[in-house]
Amino acid sequence: MMNTTNLPNAQAVVVHDDMEQLATAVAQRVAELAARAIAARGTFHVALAGGETPRRCYEKLRHLPVDWAHVQIYFGDERCLPIGDAQRNDHMVYKALLEHVAIPPANIHAIPSELGASAAAARYAALLQQVVPLDLALLGMGEDGHTASLFPDNPALDDPALAVAVFNAPKPPAERVSLSLTALNAARLKIFLVAGAGKREALEQILRGEPLPAARIASAEWHLDRAAWPGMFYINGHGNFAAPE
Ligand code: 6PG
Repeated sequence: MMNTTNLPNAQAVVVHDDMEQLATAVAQRVAELAARAIAARGTFHVALAGGETPRRCYEKLRHLPVDWAHVQIYFGDERCLPIGDAQRNDHMVYKALLEHVAIPPANIHAIPSELGASAAAARYAALLQQVVPLDLALLGMGEDGHTASLFPDNPALDDPALAVAVFNAPKPPAERVSLSLTALNAARLKIFLVAGAGKREALEQILRGEPLPAARIASAEWHLDRAAWPGMFYINGHGNFAAPE
C-alpha cells in the first residue's frame, strides 16, 4: 500500500498492490466506519457501489465483525431492469454480501428501478430526504469517468434532486437511477474503489483537472490498484518518493 501525491479534489489517494489488497483494505475501512457511526449515532447509513470492482470487497466484508442490525443499506445507483435480474446492482450486492450476513431485510433499501427511472428516482429521493447525510458512499468509476450512474455530459449531473432519473447512459442499460452529485457530496465520507489499467486514462484526465463526473465528488478517499494509477510518483510504504514500475 502506498499513499500517493494527490488527485485534485481528493481527501486521500491510496494505491494498493492489487485488487485483493484493495478489497481487503476497503472492507476493513467500511467495518471500522460502521462501528464508529453506530457508537456515535446508533446507525450506519451506507450507499453501496455497483459494477464489478467492489464485489471482492463485499465478499471480504461478510467475514468482518459488523453489527448488521444497525446498518442501513442504500444503493448509489441502479439499472432499470426487473427485480431479481442478475444485471442489477442490488442483485450483485445481495449475492456477494447481503445474503451472507444477519441484516434485517427491512434495512435493505433497494432502488425500485423496475418502476422506470422517473418514478423510481422520485420515490428514492423521498426516502433519502429522511436520511441525508449518508455516513458513507462507496463509489466506482467507469472508463469514461462516470460515477454511480452520473455520466459525462448527461443532464442528470445537473439535477438537484437527491435521486435522479438517467436516460441515454452509454453503459447498458441506458435507463438508470442514480444518487445525485448533491446526495453523494453530502455523505460524511466518500470512498472510490478503482482498479485496472482501463481506468488509467480517466484518472490522467482528472489529474489534469478535467471535471469528469467522478472528479466532481469532493473530498473523497480514493483506493486504487497499481494498474489504475497513472501518477508519475507515489510515496511508498517507507515514506520515500518512487517512480511507478
Ligand atoms: C454500474 C455502476 C457504475 C460502476 C462503474 C465502474 O451500474 O455499473 O454502479 O457506476 O461503478 O461503471 O464499474 P466497474 O467496477 O465494473 O468497472
